[in-house]
Amino acid sequence: MTRQIIIDTDPGQDDAVAILLALASPELTVLGITCVAGNVPLALTSRNARMICELAGRPDMRVFAGCDRPLGRDLVTAEHVHGQSGLDGPVLPDPVMPLQAQHAVDFIIDTLRSQPAGSVTLCPLGPLTNIAMALEKAPDIIPRIREIVLMGGAYFEVGNITPTAEFNIYVDPQAARIVFRAGVPLVVVPLDVTHKVLVTKERNDAFRALGTRVGEAVAQMTEFFERFDLAKYGSPGAPLHDPCVTAYLLRPDLFTGRHINVEIEVQSELTMGMTVADWWRVTSRVPNALFLRDVDADGLFALFTERLGRL
Ligand code: BDR
Ligand code: CA
Repeated sequence: MTRQIIIDTDPGQDDAVAILLALASPELTVLGITCVAGNVPLALTSRNARMICELAGRPDMRVFAGCDRPLGRDLVTAEHVHGQSGLDGPVLPDPVMPLQAQHAVDFIIDTLRSQPAGSVTLCPLGPLTNIAMALEKAPDIIPRIREIVLMGGAYFEVGNITPTAEFNIYVDPQAARIVFRAGVPLVVVPLDVTHKVLVTKERNDAFRALGTRVGEAVAQMTEFFERFDLAKYGSPGAPLHDPCVTAYLLRPDLFTGRHINVEIEVQSELTMGMTVADWWRVTSRVPNALFLRDVDADGLFALFTERLGRL
């Protein structure tokens, strides 16, 4: 039995790799891809998602546009990391496949209502606006969600867009708070994990050595955002954030973490969007998330390369 997922995303080169991995994996059935404003505005994320589906040879995939701005704040984007298009690096053709007419939030709600309860996993790779909107608009879907596995937040690494906040949570902290308080089983892949998943030259060479269009495109994507991350972190490669979500679905044994309480800061401008993770269990707040911390990065890249090679 395959696992049914909805990918909610703001591509983004690392989102793109996460999508490619999911589409390459027979263990997963992608019911649809829902787009949100984040790395770049919605018009571009919903365009980029379709370009990736076509790159994967899946023009039949359904792609939905969702919220074009956070719930209560102005949109913050990240062209400085991802380039003007959000997907700078490879030259990919404009998408031919259509954008679905339905709003992403309504697609999420309808899917959760129509599929058996406990069968659909949500995989957010960007700001949590679409997911929070769906939970607010249709609370009846909450007990029907199998799990939410998201990339966002940080504890030990603290922040990447501000000193104390990770980008996805920072862009829409109100939405994140709704999601973290919803009572849905939650798995959080924070910067603490993704900063260990570095695309070194050897690992990128392995993508390129696949000798396929997908392998070459992925190598060019990671090379593009590497120029930013190398300057910022001085590490031997850029972190490949969002594919960790897909990898967790396929190989949870590659990750370790703790089941703890995580709250979202939504008031202080200084620490807005901080994921206040009770890693040391110093409060009596009820655990609401499996917060990952460690990963077998070599195992992960072996998986990435093997899967991308199938496309
Ligand atoms: C997250 O922010 C985005 O720039 C990436 O796509 C990833 O989802 C990392 O903080
Ligand atoms: Ca993303």
